[in-house]
Amino acid sequence: MNPLFDLSGKVAIVTGGNGGIGLGMAQGLADAGATVVIAGRNESKNQNAVNAILQKGGKASAVVVDVQQQAECEQMVQRSLQAHGRIDVLVNNAGMNIRKPPQAYALAEWNQVLQTNLTSAFVCSQAVYPVFEHQGAGKIINIGSMMSLFGASFATPYAASKGGLVQMTKAMACAWAAQHIQVNAILPGWIDTDLTRQARIDVDGLHQRVLDRTPAKRWGMPDDFAGIAVFLASPASDFITGAAIAVDGGYSVQG
Ligand SMILES: NC(=O)c1ccc[n+]([C@@H]2O[C@H](COP(=O)([O-])OP(=O)(O)OC[C@H]3O[C@@H](n4cnc5c(N)ncnc54)[C@H](OP(=O)(O)O)[C@@H]3O)[C@@H](O)[C@H]2O)c1
Repeated sequence: MNPLFDLSGKVAIVTGGNGGIGLGMAQGLADAGATVVIAGRNESKNQNAVNAILQKGGKASAVVVDVQQQAECEQMVQRSLQAHGRIDVLVNNAGMNIRKPPQAYALAEWNQVLQTNLTSAFVCSQAVYPVFEHQGAGKIINIGSMMSLFGASFATPYAASKGGLVQMTKAMACAWAAQHIQVNAILPGWIDTDLTRQARIDVDGLHQRVLDRTPAKRWGMPDDFAGIAVFLASPASDFITGAAIAVDGGYSVQG
């Protein structure tokens, strides 16, 4: 394997790694040699993801975590460290959406989306920082969205959380670059997962609008995230920090 992309001996935590985009990234990281920690709420989904990676010859374990809980995020980091002796990569991928017009949200719904998508990434990054500092290097990959760039009438807290993630990425990148910690974001376009299967039910005409606007003329698949995850986790990206990279089949550049 090209050493630029070799993750042998590295340990990567992927929150929400038990399905969808998270599993696509986890499988890619494992294929490049990393030991992957699948961190999600649903224990049987976690175990299925671990089994899928093991069956393909990769190395993986699971931790049950609700990323809305600060203490559980801290335990996730400690358990990963105890199990594997080091942590090199944190992928803040866990996320959710509640789709409504802005005037219809209860404050608890706003808080739930912000807590799950944005605050959790802050808390997990804070929890892993001492490990990275001690080891002398680390990689954080935050999963934004097209809603980091654009608005949508049905996604006010989601857009706020994903826009905030990009700014948090830049701020942490500036703060931690001298410790050789790179912090970057991936901005997925429209990807075929459980999250968007529900969106296609909730939002009239969404499926065709996505096809019409995406130059690649297809929805993305979880596998489309394997390559970018390996790149941002590997030495190939050591001088890239604070970036937000769209993986969207051209959706965000279509005029
Ligand atoms: N699909 C798209 O088109 C798209 C586009 C842009 C951005 N994204 C982002 O990509 C990320 C992954 O989404 P996806 O499309 O792959 O959706 P998904 O299939 O619904 O996966 C979401 C993942 O997040 C986990 N999760 C949710 N809340 C959690 C919590 N409180 N604690 C721990 N884990 C939690 C889920 O695990 P459990 O089931 O165990 O809770 C699940 O693994 C999200 O951040 C999403 O916003 C997706």
